[in-house]
Amino acid sequence: MPRRKDPRRDDLPPAFSSMWRALKRAYYAEPRLLPVSFGLSLLAALPDALLALWMKLLVDGVERHQRNLVMAAGAGLAVSAVATWFLKVTSDRAQRRFRDRVAVALESHVAGLQASVSTIAHHERPEFVDRLAMLRDQVFVLDHMYISLFSTCGWILRLGVTVVLLMSIHPVLALLVVFALPTVFTSTWRPGVEREVQERAVPAIRLAAHLFNTATTAPAGKEVRVTGIGDQLVRQRREAWERWYRPVAAARWGTALWHTLAWAIFGAGYVGAVVFVSSVLKASPGNVLLVLAAGARLSAYIGATVGEIGFLRGFWLDGSRRMAWLEDYAASLVEHADAPAPERLKDGIRFEHVSFTYPGTARRVLDDVNLELKPGAVVAIVGENGAGKSTLVKLLCRLYQPDQGRILIDGVDLARIRAGEWRLRIAGAFQDFFRFEFRARQSVSVGDVPRLDDQPAVLAAVERAGAGDVVERLASGLETQLGTTWPQGVEVSFGQWQKLALARGFMRDRPLLLVLDEPTAALDAETEHALFERYAAVARGGKQDNATDGRITILVSHRFSTVRMAELIVVLDGARVVEAGTHEELMAKGGQYAELYGIQAAAYR
Ligand SMILES: Nc1ncnc2c1ncn2[C@@H]1O[C@H](COP(=O)(O)OP(=O)(O)O)[C@@H](O)[C@H]1O
Ligand SMILES: [Mg+2]
Repeated sequence: MPRRKDPRRDDLPPAFSSMWRALKRAYYAEPRLLPVSFGLSLLAALPDALLALWMKLLVDGVERHQRNLVMAAGAGLAVSAVATWFLKVTSDRAQRRFRDRVAVALESHVAGLQASVSTIAHHERPEFVDRLAMLRDQVFVLDHMYISLFSTCGWILRLGVTVVLLMSIHPVLALLVVFALPTVFTSTWRPGVEREVQERAVPAIRLAAHLFNTATTAPAGKEVRVTGIGDQLVRQRREAWERWYRPVAAARWGTALWHTLAWAIFGAGYVGAVVFVSSVLKASPGNVLLVLAAGARLSAYIGATVGEIGFLRGFWLDGSRRMAWLEDYAASLVEHADAPAPERLKDGIRFEHVSFTYPGTARRVLDDVNLELKPGAVVAIVGENGAGKSTLVKLLCRLYQPDQGRILIDGVDLARIRAGEWRLRIAGAFQDFFRFEFRARQSVSVGDVPRLDDQPAVLAAVERAGAGDVVERLASGLETQLGTTWPQGVEVSFGQWQKLALARGFMRDRPLLLVLDEPTAALDAETEHALFERYAAVARGGKQDNATDGRITILVSHRFSTVRMAELIVVLDGARVVEAGTHEELMAKGGQYAELYGIQAAAYR
């Protein structure tokens, strides 16, 4: 059994460990590119930060008439200038490449993780669905996280170099960092305040957009003209826009004032530092220049560092946490199944006291179900909508685990059988089938992946599903692209989709379990009956070697004319099995089945 944590309690993993894991993941994916682009982004930070030093040395050299120093400083300046450009280009290039490659690796990783979860509960629980949806959106931008991390380190390096340069003149100059903090604070605080005001005014802007659309788009055009409401729409839109813009503009002015004040504080500190160095310390012109040049950059460096960290925190860190969560979740569900799926059924399938409640809900959908399905049997399941028929089928496909009881396949608990192997033994079509918008041939052949391009197999499946007429009507037959959003794609009706889904369900030649969960609801009763008749014959070993396979066919239908051919009819009502037996037995019993059968038969007569 998979170990299951209670997902309500397991929140997202902590930020730093998630980021560390994401880094390791990127390192495994790109063991060379990662250090190269990280190293380059650090190197690229240096020339810029060292400019102040070269300038100081240059002035020192000129002042002291030291030709060598002047030459060295000049060379330093030149190298810095060239290196700034060169490193920018190469590190951008390396980062771009790293990002592209790591993005693909991460997308595959996330898709692989999702696919590795053998049950589908995570697709249905709201809290998981939200997380997965966000992760799907974020995985495309998760690669930014690394670059953002690299540039954060680059900014910190610049900042460090600058502070060291300043402190080399006098330790007190480190205080300039403190004077720069208000600008950092206001620049991180401003966007939030402005966004909040904008969000409060969102109804007005939405109204304005709506009015604009109404006034300018085709659907409303006729009525806008007949009623002559056009001018009014334009006026109302203008008013709505004003309602939005006025508070936003006021907020922008307000924050701009604070920001100016913060810059004034830094300016005062900066001027103070220059005065301190030149008048109090009576430093050399070179050192004064150093303070002028390095100090001016300080605020920009701090701002960039803080901004980049904010970026990381707000968005990309979140992405790495979701990814770490998905990794944990997938790992927590790692299959401990150790039994192989059987090659054929000898004893059949047994339900022993099976109960099931959908995760995150309170109501039992199956309650103490006991059934014995003999090898080779055709079993029909009937019951009202919501009785639990499809759920029973899903449990059989091992898409969920029963909460209580167990399903035995030839005496082995299904939970112990490897899901992937078991599903290879299943074929069938579902009520809520998926429309694979591929070429018709492929839309059918995905039912048996190893035979994706096996034309005769596809034709046989189409024939078995009675979908020949659908294919005949397609312009290019099996090669027709389905789905109108694709080039030369065609749309087919619901009933046609259903027949193709049915054909897909028949791709596998020798399944041990064939499930037909109302796959023919859109077909008429006669077609359905004929189809099922054909299957039942095959299943009973008429044509194929089913006699040795022991294939069990599960048929869900609410058409009793179809159902009656089954050798076991199971009546589900309110999550429980209320009756089970052959048509004759159930009729003789005079219970629910007999009553419903009577009603339908009367309707047909
Ligand atoms: N994924 C799900 N999550 C929560 N409840 C579900 C889910 N699928 C089905 N149910 C509920 O379980 C009950 C049985 O559904 P189902 O097995 O599909 O019934 P049937 O196939 O007999 O019409 C219904 O009440 C349905 O609303
Ligand atoms: Mg159903």
